Amino acid sequence: MQLYESLGIGKDDRTAAAEQALENFNSFGAPHTMVITTPEDLGVYGAIDCGLYVSSFMLAARQYGVDTIAQAALASYPDLLRDHLQLPGDRQVVCGLSFGYADNEHLINSYRTERADINDVVDWRG
Ligand SMILES: Cc1cc2nc3c(=O)[nH]c(=O)nc-3n(C[C@H](O)[C@H](O)[C@H](O)COP(=O)(O)O)c2cc1C
Repeated sequence: MQLYESLGIGKDDRTAAAEQALENFNSFGAPHTMVITTPEDLGVYGAIDCGLYVSSFMLAARQYGVDTIAQAALASYPDLLRDHLQLPGDRQVVCGLSFGYADNEHLINSYRTERADINDVVDWRG
């Protein structure tokens, strides 16, 4: 919602929200998109590896001045990606990741997520 609000898209403006969501499939204008997959039988551990890979790639890219957009939305159409990229049948599509040089003049890049308080993410015991 914060992201959509930064573009002036209100909560009830479903048409504008859908148009913005479609940008996922235009890689938000980025020149490159990678698709992250894992062998299905690795289960949750494969997904953890993918998360680590995505996070490390995003940090390493910043080191080179390259910006990234993690995209869970691309996993909504796994069969389409499987066909298009000729992925082996046992690969589970986890997410996409688009990257390139950011357009800092674009309104969408003025948006920054808020960071949660530690007490919202840790359940302290003992
Ligand atoms: C694993 C993951 C998946 C995401 N999937 C999407 C997505 O499908 N579409 C989207 O617009 N943003 C998605 N996001 C959010 C953006 O990639 C980005 O993190 C967000 O705009 C906040 O940017 P910031 O962390 O630089 O503040 C995802 C983020 C993560 C970490």
